[in-house]
Amino acid sequence: MYVKYKLNIMIFDSGLGGLLFYNQIKRIIPYSNYFYVFDNTGFPYGNKDKNYISNRIIKIINSICKLNKIDLIIIACNTASILTLSELRKLLDYPIIGVLPAIRIATKFTKNNHICLLATNNTIYSAYISNIVDKLSYKYTITLIPSMQLVYLAEKILQGYYLSISPLYKIFAMWKDSNKNTPDTIILGCTHFSLFTSNLLHILKKKIIIDSNIITINFILNFIKNNIHYNQNNRFIYDKAYCVSLTKKTKNLSIVLKYYGFESLNVISI
Ligand code: DGL
Repeated sequence: MYVKYKLNIMIFDSGLGGLLFYNQIKRIIPYSNYFYVFDNTGFPYGNKDKNYISNRIIKIINSICKLNKIDLIIIACNTASILTLSELRKLLDYPIIGVLPAIRIATKFTKNNHICLLATNNTIYSAYISNIVDKLSYKYTITLIPSMQLVYLAEKILQGYYLSISPLYKIFAMWKDSNKNTPDTIILGCTHFSLFTSNLLHILKKKIIIDSNIITINFILNFIKNNIHYNQNNRFIYDKAYCVSLTKKTKNLSIVLKYYGFESLNVISI
């Protein structure tokens, strides 16, 4: 299934995790132009202060929107969405949508009413998550697992390093055998963690893995249908990537970005 929207879509993440989201949305909305923007100086966001993160994102969005006519901004970062989305919407006059942990969807799948959320420290310890956990506590047990180690690991693998995923095995070894006391449904609440979906399916054979990226794409399609008035004549250009500082290390990412479909890696000043 795909839709023929011809939008100019900015996808933002702290690092390369949003590329996994880009891959997924590009299949559903293939005729749009994508502007992938990552904050390679601010990465990771999962252990940084809220104001630091929102100040950077505001500058980044303004800078990209000065260069390109953007129809929709997607914050493809659960951490940034949880911490800054309402502020971004208040302060900026662009259509902005975020990727958020798909907890409510998980409640529809769990059979033993025990769910696990795997996400960054900031996400796990946020007021947003604790409110949801409180509201659902009448029926569901929600085990929260913060892991910045997996964020760093995923980012490195996405950059092209060949690394062992043993940290993933360590975290979940205890749940290999299904029993009543372990969650039967695991939510990936960080865009970077989509990278581990097939590994997790392998490690946790009998469990359901919910990828928040994929769930969010449905919401985005509805959001576009109801909120976005765009120029039908948007011309197809090639997808562009942007970072905030072009170090030697970042320049090497051009190869990775080309592999994903980005013809050029540009730099914006913030
Ligand atoms: N990709 C971000 C998320 O979805 C996390 C990475 C980071 O800590 O910057 O939460």
